[in-house]
Amino acid sequence: MAAIQVRIGVIGHGTVGAAFVRLVKQQASAIAARSGVQLVIARVAVRNIDAHKNSLAADVLTTDAEFVVNDPTVDLVVEVMGGIDQARGLILKALSNGKPVVTANKALIATHGAELFAAADNAGIDLLFEAAVCGGIPLIRPLRESLRGEPIRRVLGIVNGTTNYILTKMSEDGASYEDALASAQQLGYAESDPTADVEGLDAAAKISIIASIAFGCNVVAGDVYSEGITKITAADIAIAKRLGYAVKLLGVTEFDKASGAVSVRVHPAIVSMQHPLASVREAFNAVVVDGEASGSLMFYGRGAGGDPTASSILGDVIDASINLNKGAHATLGVLSAPKLQPMSDTSCEYLLPLEVADKPGVLHAVTGVFARHNVSIRAAEQDGIGHGARLVFLTHNAGEAAMQACISELKKLDVVTHVGGLLRVIAD
Ligand code: NAP
Ligand code: HSE
Repeated sequence: MAAIQVRIGVIGHGTVGAAFVRLVKQQASAIAARSGVQLVIARVAVRNIDAHKNSLAADVLTTDAEFVVNDPTVDLVVEVMGGIDQARGLILKALSNGKPVVTANKALIATHGAELFAAADNAGIDLLFEAAVCGGIPLIRPLRESLRGEPIRRVLGIVNGTTNYILTKMSEDGASYEDALASAQQLGYAESDPTADVEGLDAAAKISIIASIAFGCNVVAGDVYSEGITKITAADIAIAKRLGYAVKLLGVTEFDKASGAVSVRVHPAIVSMQHPLASVREAFNAVVVDGEASGSLMFYGRGAGGDPTASSILGDVIDASINLNKGAHATLGVLSAPKLQPMSDTSCEYLLPLEVADKPGVLHAVTGVFARHNVSIRAAEQDGIGHGARLVFLTHNAGEAAMQACISELKKLDVVTHVGGLLRVIAD
């Protein structure tokens, strides 16, 4: 049986787009033999043609992304240019022209997902985005298909490769934050504006997409409480390490069955060295899904970088091509409006480092603040003496609102010279 030819229009030929085009060229014959789909790179849109002339034929390259989504000879569109408004318009146009779309754009899906899914459903074609969450790790499809009937309680994980790489380099090699970030950018892990990585916004986009699928509701990036890693210092990491913990930037989403509320958050956290997430190093990602019947499932792999992300895109492209030929498409079904749990209603144990004056009465003044806010201290230690002395507190389980009120009051104490990065403890 002859393979069906599917002509792909690719928008973007950067880290991910170039890796995808390369993979298609390498794998096209094997894919045709195994799946009956002959993939052809028909068009590639970029901003600057000169920079891509060496790797792509002149008749494939264009600077006109609109032309790609309107081109009647293009069957399917891969969007890997990033950004929100222009990408949204291009994807809507491609879908309305009957072309399935595969995208790696989490910022877009986490903002306009519901509108785009509805447009794809109306057109009866695929909008697939496995690559948008955790690069090369298959996670969206397992959540959408394999775990469709599973009541999920919590999804927790390292969903940003850049920040995990930075924290690993700071923790293991004593690298500075700046050097580790520059290296992550050079390796193609970081977003074009790395603020999205280090401030937790990229992770927030991903965990909102995960929450939407896991709990069947429309959670958007703006619903996510997010803190990044910019306040975490080498000293915070060293203290956590000495106490037997690893510092990780985590995305967490939980469903409270009793209230029906969904909590969605991103923040630095500490996990015990025995926790499976503690050994996830460099740009690797890992996500733990806790289901009522399935128990804990862990998904692990390369969460960033051209080739792993391109691999996810390629899988989606083959599925969308087969579906196009059958007149079928994948759907997320109806996403309800979420009941969101405010961050202030969450609770956990906390690790809080403070830089203080080293003189009589300081401990009394500081612990008095914890007591006034009903935050119970599990352990405390002093690190260093004289100028630059640090007090480190590990609390029992406490409410977020109480902990934040405690921090605000600590900041006003004369004897506290600096309040360090707050680290939430993930116990299991
Ligand atoms: P990138 O290296 O900056 O590449 C972006 C590409 O898009 C470039 O080729 C650029 O053209 C092209 N482009 C930008 N605006 C365009 C426009 N208006 N018209 C035509 N072409 C345009 O970005 P990337 O790292 O590949 O990321 C692409 C997408 O994948 C983003 O949504 C990102 O969040 C997502 N993603 C990235 C990774 C990763 O590890 N990098 C992983 C998962 C998902 P020029 O080359 O001419 O400038
Ligand atoms: N900048 C992202 C990261 C790319 O570092 O995880 C993968 O989505």
